[in-house]
Amino acid sequence: MSRVRVQNFSISLDGFGTGEGQSRDAHFGHAGDRLHEWMFATRSWDQGGSSGVDDLFVQQFESGIGAEIMGAGKFGHPGWHEDPDWKGAWGPNPPFHTPVFVLTHHTRPSIEMEGGTTFHFLDASPAEALKTAREAAGDRDIRLGGGATMIREFVVAGLVDHMHVVVVPILLGRGVRLWDGLEGIEKDYRVEATSSSSGVTHVTFTRNGA
Ligand SMILES: NC(=O)c1ccc[n+]([C@@H]2O[C@H](COP(=O)([O-])OP(=O)(O)OC[C@H]3O[C@@H](n4cnc5c(N)ncnc54)[C@H](OP(=O)(O)O)[C@@H]3O)[C@@H](O)[C@H]2O)c1
Repeated sequence: MSRVRVQNFSISLDGFGTGEGQSRDAHFGHAGDRLHEWMFATRSWDQGGSSGVDDLFVQQFESGIGAEIMGAGKFGHPGWHEDPDWKGAWGPNPPFHTPVFVLTHHTRPSIEMEGGTTFHFLDASPAEALKTAREAAGDRDIRLGGGATMIREFVVAGLVDHMHVVVVPILLGRGVRLWDGLEGIEKDYRVEATSSSSGVTHVTFTRNGA
């Protein structure tokens, strides 16, 4: 069966996956770009960038993925659903190149973008959304794209097989936390960590038996 994977999800030392004050011009609120500077410095992102462990993780992004599920808070800033022309924050050719299922209580018709990405809008439980995404992905894996709120829902429902979290050495102090309500999840996963010379730590969670 295809696996459910979280990739490159970046959190601050104090566990925040985004900052406070998200808006159309500040998708990560007061965090700005600081959670993803490690990624922008890799060769996958910028030809002159680094080719070490950070880049190896970034290279995995599209590998074996047949569909993504993301939360409404990743698809757009608070209030995006009041804008009938909002098509996500990635421009005409988003970097997913697969069907993307946006979990939201404000559903709308699907939007076909350039490059193979189609956004579908689902008001569904994690298990129902996963069933729909699996039908679209065939035997390929499902990426959980975040943010923190939707990842937590899937972890609580026991649906996550593999999770790659990048701990960035900054303290955000406020925003949306990844770990709230997930006390003790390390019992259900094999946890491994790799430090990078960039200063981030890659922590992977592989579900026991997966
Ligand atoms: N750190 C990273 O690597 C990373 C990665 C991706 C995104 N982000 C950032 O994370 C932030 C968004 O994260 P977030 O935690 O605030 O929100 P989120 O997880 O993206 O979305 C949560 C929202 O999705 C909808 N939703 C979730 N589950 C649902 C369900 N079962 N059925 C129907 N609707 C459901 C609800 O919105 P409605 O009620 O409005 O529909 C809910 O408030 C953004 O700033 C984004 O840029 C960070």
